[in-house]
Amino acid sequence: MERLENKVALVSGAASGIGAAVVDRLVEEGATVVAADIAEIEDGVICDVTDPESCAAAIAETLERHAQLDILVNVAGIGAGNRIEDVTPQEWRKLIEVNLTGTFFLSQAALPALLETTGAIVNMASLSGIRGTPYNAAYSASKGGVIALTKSMAVELASTGVRVNAVCPGAVNTPFLSDYHLPEDADMTLLQRSMSPMGGLVEAVEVAAAVAYLASDEAASVSGTTLEIDGAASA
Ligand SMILES: NC(=O)c1ccc[n+]([C@@H]2O[C@H](COP(=O)([O-])OP(=O)(O)OC[C@H]3O[C@@H](n4cnc5c(N)ncnc54)[C@H](O)[C@@H]3O)[C@@H](O)[C@H]2O)c1
Repeated sequence: MERLENKVALVSGAASGIGAAVVDRLVEEGATVVAADIAEIEDGVICDVTDPESCAAAIAETLERHAQLDILVNVAGIGAGNRIEDVTPQEWRKLIEVNLTGTFFLSQAALPALLETTGAIVNMASLSGIRGTPYNAAYSASKGGVIALTKSMAVELASTGVRVNAVCPGAVNTPFLSDYHLPEDADMTLLQRSMSPMGGLVEAVEVAAAVAYLASDEAASVSGTTLEIDGAASA
């Protein structure tokens, strides 16, 4: 099904994991996709989402190449596992800066173009933004912030027709997960709170499918929502 024919999308965090899967899925559905990341991608654009000028440049490059922007998918993000008392000020600031501030900066830069096309934004939140997860204070706060940002933008933009939604995956099988290290002597019983009762990990393609739906006109009345993809972990 070519649900996204004639749509132009920009995907941040597109060099790896979920972002790369979202690019593939949107292309499969007929969209023209610009892949953006702080890391280099063939035919992509370099974008550091923490830098408003870099965000503006990525949007300008997208418009230069394709003359319109219909879909923004904010996937760029980082994680870190640490006990509350061991989180350094730098670590706290970096997590919030990339995951939350970066989502806002790129959305803000994209908004004029999205208003022209009555476009859609899909943000990457997390189960950790809904359910308390241990050793994850900064990350959880950043993703809870992404959910609040999503709702605030959805309401403010409702009369324009621009839609803003978020997906909240549980543990997804990507390099993000293999790079994640728990503190020594972590309490595994606390970690069980965020494990899926269905067992196993979510695949990046499942998250990409949810993003494609929310970005498509089939979700024309869906805005300000969070779609959990977590095997009932948040239920
Ligand atoms: N993997 C999981 O279990 C999981 C679960 C829930 C939510 N998420 C969220 O999904 C998103 C993608 O995660 P992933 O698993 O694909 O991780 P990943 O590490 O595979 O990919 C993250 C990408 O973001 C890019 N990035 C990092 N900082 C950036 C910056 N400042 N500007 C632009 N790009 C930057 C990286 O270069 C990388 O390509 C993140 O926001 C993450 O928090 C992941």
